[in-house]
Amino acid sequence: MANIGAKVWLDGKIIDRVDAARVSLLTHTLHYGVGAFEGIRAYRSENGETIIFRLSEHIRRLYESCRLVMIEPTVTAEAVCQGCAEVLRENQLTEGYLRPLVILGEGAMGLYPQGNPVLTFVAAWAWGTYLGQDALERGIRCKISSYVRPHLNSGFSRGKLTGQYIISVMAKREVKIAGYDEALLLDANGMLAEGSGENVFIVRDGVLITPSLTSSILAGITRATVLTLAREEGIPVLEQPLPRDALLLADEAFLTGTAAEITPVREVDDRTIGSGSVGPITRRLQERYFAAVRGAEPNHPQWLTRVCAKSRPLQARSRTGPRSLAWPAPRRSARRLRPRAHPLRGRGTRASAPACASSKPRGKAWRFPCPIPAAGGWTSARNTAGWRATPRALPRCWCAPGISTASPSPRIASAKRASGASSCRASLPRRSSARTSARWQARTTAR
Ligand SMILES: Cc1ncc(COP(=O)(O)O)c(C=O)c1O
Repeated sequence: MANIGAKVWLDGKIIDRVDAARVSLLTHTLHYGVGAFEGIRAYRSENGETIIFRLSEHIRRLYESCRLVMIEPTVTAEAVCQGCAEVLRENQLTEGYLRPLVILGEGAMGLYPQGNPVLTFVAAWAWGTYLGQDALERGIRCKISSYVRPHLNSGFSRGKLTGQYIISVMAKREVKIAGYDEALLLDANGMLAEGSGENVFIVRDGVLITPSLTSSILAGITRATVLTLAREEGIPVLEQPLPRDALLLADEAFLTGTAAEITPVREVDDRTIGSGSVGPITRRLQERYFAAVRGAEPNHPQWLTRVCAKSRPLQARSRTGPRSLAWPAPRRSARRLRPRAHPLRGRGTRASAPACASSKPRGKAWRFPCPIPAAGGWTSARNTAGWRATPRALPRCWCAPGISTASPSPRIASAKRASGASSCRASLPRRSSARTSARWQARTTAR
């Protein structure tokens, strides 16, 4: 059984998990399965830092799942990102699995929930290899399940929705009872879809092939990562429908998922895949993936969110002794929306305080810089600064209370090492302000 952390994050507050367990038995989601969730992993880097892998993409998908089922979370996406970091810290987990979950609470019963409260949780636990000790090394045995993925219009393939998982749970149970490690599911047209909680890839004659996103599959974040890494490795990639036969005759096959990472498949329906051992392309992609999640990949700093250690609130040394500093209020213009490198900088004080404070700075002007690229209507609606980050506009190194996105560039990192500085340097690239984007919108609608 997973060793779930004693602390969870609930709508902006860290509470004991036993208190969260008092959530009502009449919780709507418990009865009808309309809820959205995510599974996210945090890894320990070689230098001991905790890194959350592709946090912004996971939280974006969480909000998109909510949109599909018309749930409007009451907290912002950026607060959930912050919650993920806090839960890891509060449970003293240097690596582990994060489970954000958005549910409809007690209120209207029946199939037409109206005005039910929306609750957002984040829990965390330590989680080793999902599919067994030597799954990553030797590969697993899969069976094609008798359950099929619902037709595209019988559910939401793009949503990670609680109720939809009944099929995955039943498929997994079916094949486990039959003595296999994991279930593979076909779609309503009889084509290969995905695993119970993973996407599927095959290799045939040196080409990497995976079902396309137009089939009934979750748009896996690990899937996207693997496609990027494969292209960088010069491996030809195809996204196309795959019949079951193609899987059985593949040279290599593997599953991808946040929990399963990159798990080789050595057998499907009692047929050996390829040579029965882990193939060279699978091995190479595994190596690249594990380097990426641990922050050893220089090419993708935007995939990483560093969790800073808990530290004391910001304090500055001044001639009159220590004093607390408010976080600088965000300002209006595009250039000004860039947070300063450090709240102490530019105030004539020495930057000796930790850049990452554990407590949220006070003051009504505080806004959390949103790392989510276009995180959906609600986030941007709540984002009073009015900007939406685009992937290119992601911060290179962003250090807000307890959490920073992306790694410092090698130049900054080596300068930091040389100076012995422990803090991250915050520098956000330019973003458009509310006024600029309104002007841009007006111009495009006028055209
Ligand atoms: C049904 C299903 N497919 C695929 C995946 C893989 O998605 P990701 O790589 O984003 O974890 C998951 C896991 O979340 C899943 O539950």
